[in-house]
Amino acid sequence: MDSPNSTDVRDLISDFLDCFTILSQRFQLYGRDHPRTRESWAALDAIRSRLARALPSRVEKLAIACHNGRFYFENAPLRREPQQALLLKRCFEKSGLGGMLVSLGIEEAALKQVLGQVATGKTRLGIESPPEGFRWMSSAEIHRYQDGHQGELNVNAVLSVADVPLQAQVYNEAMTALSSFNKECSAGRDAGPDAVAQAARCLVEAVLSHPREILPQATAHYYAEFMLYHSVNVSILALSAASLLTRDPGQLELIAQAGLLHDVGAALLGEQILCKDQPLTEEETALLMEHPEKGARLLQSISGLHPIVITAAFGHHVKGAQGYPRALSEYQTGPVTRLVEIADIFEALTAYRPYKRAITAPLAFLQLYAEPSLARIRQYVDLLAQAIGFHPVGTKVRTREGEQALVCGHVEADPQRPIIRLIVVSPDGDRGLGCPQEAACGDLSWSKPAEDAKVVVTAIDPLEDLKRAEETRDSAAEPARCEPAW
Ligand SMILES: [Fe+2]
Ligand SMILES: [Fe+2]
Repeated sequence: MDSPNSTDVRDLISDFLDCFTILSQRFQLYGRDHPRTRESWAALDAIRSRLARALPSRVEKLAIACHNGRFYFENAPLRREPQQALLLKRCFEKSGLGGMLVSLGIEEAALKQVLGQVATGKTRLGIESPPEGFRWMSSAEIHRYQDGHQGELNVNAVLSVADVPLQAQVYNEAMTALSSFNKECSAGRDAGPDAVAQAARCLVEAVLSHPREILPQATAHYYAEFMLYHSVNVSILALSAASLLTRDPGQLELIAQAGLLHDVGAALLGEQILCKDQPLTEEETALLMEHPEKGARLLQSISGLHPIVITAAFGHHVKGAQGYPRALSEYQTGPVTRLVEIADIFEALTAYRPYKRAITAPLAFLQLYAEPSLARIRQYVDLLAQAIGFHPVGTKVRTREGEQALVCGHVEADPQRPIIRLIVVSPDGDRGLGCPQEAACGDLSWSKPAEDAKVVVTAIDPLEDLKRAEETRDSAAEPARCEPAW
């Protein structure tokens, strides 16, 4: 993974952080015009100049991530210093976020402004969009940004927090909106469409602006409160596919709402049925199969919901002769319902449930293509595959040589060709990522990897990763869900 000068750069970044911390302290103690503060300015400026020289000329900005109190530059841990811990305390904890970009285009006035914010507790440290390609690969172990060091110049911001956590916030807000919508419905009240519509708008924006940041959250293998995760995931997956057909925000918002609300009838069933880890009785199965109709009826009673959203709730299980509540011959579905249907099946296959294991994304696609009842809507399976790839961003894969890698994208013209970065482990056990490289898919029985493919990968079974995550889990720090298996 090493880029030119990366060792020097890491040291310089470390110095930069130290120096910044001292400057921050002096700024607060003495004010901006005190000689000691000015001395720190000069030191910081000198390091900044050295950094600028140590980096390729086009690079203007670096990404630094912080995880478990440790700073990472391009995945590689920076040396641990008390000063850095102080910076963590001052900057990161106040902002509640976990990463930042350090601009090399520093202007003193801008830095002073940021320091002023830190000093007065008004932090969010000048939030701005991260450079193209920055993403947070895994909350469990690795932070990184893609595509080497390329970033955009923004001389106005000195320190900024990468907005990947903001994508997590969008995801969580959608969960919250849906949860309260379901609660209102359970209590027999008209939940109104506003909160869900707002969540749908945010999801559309996230999918259109940062698909690689939001998608890994939608393909993680959750199980706790899975109905909520499921509905948000279906929404994001359907949106990802739909974004290849249209960029119209109004249309996409309807699709997002349809995904969020498609299973509202099932969410009301309660955990006894939804989370049962034994086969359902006949009576329970009948109840479950009522959920599209019940959901549609419930949505009909809510003022202001678009009919397409209601239709998707009613029709997302209408497939072939076995479909319910109507078989296909009696009921024709439209594109939004079909998108939700495909996303629904894909999500259900790749996520854990109390009664079943998750399967890998390529195997899920294999099943989608092999399922006769889905032959009629194969173009929507194609669309989903093109949008997210057979190995969605964040999937952990293994090469034929046994090395592990993370997927960071796919070749645009070929969803079966993931772009991967090898996971490299340093002698002292620190982990980082290698340079992006194209790989061939070794999961699918129908496609032989190209002879000339240098790297052939297969997705790692989520359970294998889950077990490893559980072994190393710090129970106090973990949320009540499976960690994503990437
Ligand atoms: Fe359903
Ligand atoms: Fe569903």
